[in-house]
Amino acid sequence: MKGIVFREFIDMVESTFGEDVSDDIIESSDLPSGGSYTAVGTYSHTELVTLVVALSEKIDVPVSALVHAFGKYLFGRFLELFPVFFEGHETSFSFLCSIHDVVHVEVLKLYPEAGLPDFIATMHDDGQTLHFEYHSHRHFADLARGLMDGAFEHWNETVEVELEDKSTDEKQIILFVCKLQ
Ligand code: HEM
Repeated sequence: MKGIVFREFIDMVESTFGEDVSDDIIESSDLPSGGSYTAVGTYSHTELVTLVVALSEKIDVPVSALVHAFGKYLFGRFLELFPVFFEGHETSFSFLCSIHDVVHVEVLKLYPEAGLPDFIATMHDDGQTLHFEYHSHRHFADLARGLMDGAFEHWNETVEVELEDKSTDEKQIILFVCKLQ
């Protein structure tokens, strides 16, 4: 996983809970990288899991809720850092349909070692329903959901989301059935 993601996570922890908390979780985590991340470096995604678990224990908030909150935060940061990917989309569904074939393709050009999920996006009911299926062995569907919720908020939409877990032994597969209200 790219250092940019770690840097954003640590920034979120610092600005929400303070520098003491972020220093504490880095120190208690015994990370192979030592906890210093450069934006262009590449680190094991398990380090992020270790940091989230440490934060969860420290502040007594479930891991899934923290990963989801980080996804929403990251959406706002991506909007600031890479505005070009958001231009020309009038709905969140239109934007989400561009992630796999456009956004993450460009991300791979910028960061060839990036580990990205696969998404299968299909529209139904005349654009009122989006089936957005997440595939990855990194098990970050909660991050995807946070990013998706960031998108719904950004486009001022109310979207009801139902989950179908289709995971196998090798990878997490979550179908998000998203219905525009
Ligand atoms: C809201 C729509 C998006 C969703 C649902 C999404 C989903 C994800 C998920 C779940 C991951 C974690 C890797 C995994 O699960 O295997 C990821 C990684 C990543 N995504 Fe996206 N993403 C979105 C938009 C974007 C945008 C707009 C950018 C900005 C350019 C971006 C850049 C990245 C980067 C840099 C990584 C890290 C790859 C790595 O560290 O190896 N994503 N994305």
